[in-house]
Amino acid sequence: MAETLRVENLHVRFGVGEDQVKALNGVSLTLESGEVYCLVGESGAGKSTLALAIMGLLPVAGSITQGRVIFDGVDLIHASAEQMRQLRGKDISMVFQDAQAALNPVQLVGAQLEEVILTHMDVSHRVANRMAQDMLKELGLPDPRRIMGSYPFSLSGGMCQRVMLAIALVLKPKLLIADEPTSGLDVTLQAEILQRLTNLSVEQNAAILLITHDMGVVAHMAKRVGVIYAGSLMESADVIPLFKESQHPYTWSLLQSIPRLDDVEKNLQPLRGTPPNMVTLPEECPFLPRCHKAISRCRVEPKPAMEEIKPGHEVACYNPVAPIVTV
Ligand SMILES: Nc1ncnc2c1ncn2[C@@H]1O[C@H](COP(=O)(O)OP(=O)(O)OP(=O)(O)O)[C@@H](O)[C@H]1O
Ligand SMILES: [Mg+2]
Repeated sequence: MAETLRVENLHVRFGVGEDQVKALNGVSLTLESGEVYCLVGESGAGKSTLALAIMGLLPVAGSITQGRVIFDGVDLIHASAEQMRQLRGKDISMVFQDAQAALNPVQLVGAQLEEVILTHMDVSHRVANRMAQDMLKELGLPDPRRIMGSYPFSLSGGMCQRVMLAIALVLKPKLLIADEPTSGLDVTLQAEILQRLTNLSVEQNAAILLITHDMGVVAHMAKRVGVIYAGSLMESADVIPLFKESQHPYTWSLLQSIPRLDDVEKNLQPLRGTPPNMVTLPEECPFLPRCHKAISRCRVEPKPAMEEIKPGHEVACYNPVAPIVTV
């Protein structure tokens, strides 16, 4: 499998001076073609910021202060605006967290879909229209022609989300970044969309960065998982080791707080406390105030770096939950 995306030591800041938000603080990850990488973490952890930074779509207040983003061998941070326009929509596409807001409110849905196709492909308007309708149908929208002739405000949130997905998928991207793509959807629709994403990764060998706070979605979808907290990755591993041998106390806490059908007696342990203020982030581990495993080293040393404790399993912690025994 080929490496599709590499993010190296990425730092993102919002604003300047004393009120600067330290949204990402040295995030590194790689995605291979055909794999689904789930990024999971609480609200405000920096998930959308990472997605927007990769896409080159940070709002004006945001800037990448350090690090690299390499897609298919191309350095995206130093790519020209024209190069980015060529890549976005075709090779790299994104489903935004707030689909309704991401669509153009004054343009018919059909025109928005066709525009993506016509910008990147040398096809007639009729062919673009056909492709757009087929894509909407494939995503389970019942009356594609009506949808194409609608403005986003007249569609439900779930419909907008699927329109957004259609726009993102119609040109068969090599990399799809999906930021909470199923959050407003009912369970059956959610399952359908996730299946569609799985097909994309398997059949078209696409790399998918799937952002979610839902551990159920992670368990169902991910090949690899990254757990992010206060703008830093705390743990990354393949999905089974992440669930079965989670090492970071934060990952462990996230897993404790989800109900399990096969263990209804289990005491759910909600994670106490709140994430830190991202303006006044401490030098030490940001999870320290909420950590049940903290030792004195955690209080005196700077935030631990990610370290590989087993092939493919990295953790940033001075006192992991359980030592991994290799035989
Ligand atoms: N435009 C902005 N200006 C200033 N701060 C911002 C901006 N966008 C995001 N932030 C801050 O950056 C941090 C990371 O936000 P981000 O939206 O990436 O979190 P998230 O993990 O996507 O959360 P959620 O699960 O709620 O979507 C937060 O502290 C947030 O307040
Ligand atoms: Mg977000």
